[in-house]
Amino acid sequence: MKYLQFKNKDKMPILGLGTWKSGKGEVYGAVFEAIKMGYRHIDCAPIYENETEVGQAIKDCIADGLVKREELWITSKLWNSNHSRENVLPGLEKTLNDLKLKYLDLFLIHWPVSLKPGTGFPKSANDFIAPEYIPIEETWKGMEEVLEQGLVRHIGLSNFNLQKIESLLPSCTYLPEVNQVEMHPFLQQKKLVEFCNWHQIILTAYSPLGSRDQKKMIKPADEPDLFDEPVILGIAENHRVNPAQILIAWSVMRNISVIPKSVNKDRLMQNLRAADILLTQDELDIISAIDRNYRYVSGKLWAMSGSPYSLEDLWGDNE
Ligand code: A2P
Repeated sequence: MKYLQFKNKDKMPILGLGTWKSGKGEVYGAVFEAIKMGYRHIDCAPIYENETEVGQAIKDCIADGLVKREELWITSKLWNSNHSRENVLPGLEKTLNDLKLKYLDLFLIHWPVSLKPGTGFPKSANDFIAPEYIPIEETWKGMEEVLEQGLVRHIGLSNFNLQKIESLLPSCTYLPEVNQVEMHPFLQQKKLVEFCNWHQIILTAYSPLGSRDQKKMIKPADEPDLFDEPVILGIAENHRVNPAQILIAWSVMRNISVIPKSVNKDRLMQNLRAADILLTQDELDIISAIDRNYRYVSGKLWAMSGSPYSLEDLWGDNE
C-alpha cells in the first residue's frame, strides 16, 4: 500500500474506505471486515448518519487486537450547519463522541456552503446562510483552533474549487493540507490537480466508482456509467481485473487518495487489492483522453431556488 506524506511526515494510506451511503445495520460489518482485511484509512462524516456504528466497529477492532488506534487514519468532516467559528468545536465534539475517538487524523470543511444551525439537508432557501454572514475564513479559524487544541492532527477542505482555495490561502495561519473532491476518469480536474500539487495540498477522490448507489430519484436517466466505458473495460481485461479496480488503480497512479465505498466483503477485498495494480503510461494516456467534466454529485441542492449559492460559483473552473 502506498502512503501520502504530510509536511510533518505523518502518512495517510492512499486507499481508504468510504462510508457515504453505507446504511445503518450494514456499515458496522463493512468497517469491521475492512479493518480485518487490512484497510487502515476510514472516511466518515456526521451527515452520513452512521458515525455511531462506524465508531463501534473501530472500537471493537481495537478491543479485539486487530489494530491499534495509532495505526488507523480516521477522517471526518464539519457539517455546513456548524460554520460559525464557535460552532466548529461542538460539531467536532459530536463526531468524536459518536466515533468514540479522542482525536481525528484529518478534519475537513465538508462544503463551502453554510446552513442555519441544526439543519441537515436544506428544505428551502430559508435554511441557508449567505457567505457574507459567515465567510469561509471564519470557519477556517475555527478549524485552526481545534487543530491547536490537538483534537485533530490535520485540517483541510472538501468540495472546494481552485478559485475558492486560492482566495482562502492568504488568511490562513495553518494551510489546508487536503482537499477532498469528486474525481474519476469522467471528472479529472487537471487544473485543480496541478494547483493542489503546487501548493502541497493532498487530493482525495470521492465517488471514484461513479457513486452508482446514489438514490435513483437524483440520478439523471442518461447518466454515463464508468463501468460501461470501453477504455476502462479494455484495460480491465488486459489486467484480468474488474473495471472498479482500474478506476481505483488510476487514482493511486496519480498519487490521489481514493475512498471507494463498499459494504460487500468480496468487493472490499477487490478494492484493497486494486491499490497495488500498476498501469502503464499508455494506459494512463488513454484514460486521460476520456475526461468529460461529468459530475455524479451535481451539487444542485446547494443552488435551489432562492439559495445564495450558485453552481457556477460552487464548481468554478477546475478542468
Ligand atoms: P457495494 O457497497 O454493494 O459494494 P462510490 O465509491 O463511487 O460511491 O461507489 C460505490 C458504489 O460502487 C456502491 O454501489 C458499491 O456497492 C459499488 N462498488 C464498490 N466496490 C465495487 C466493486 N469492486 N465492483 C463493483 N461495484 C462496486
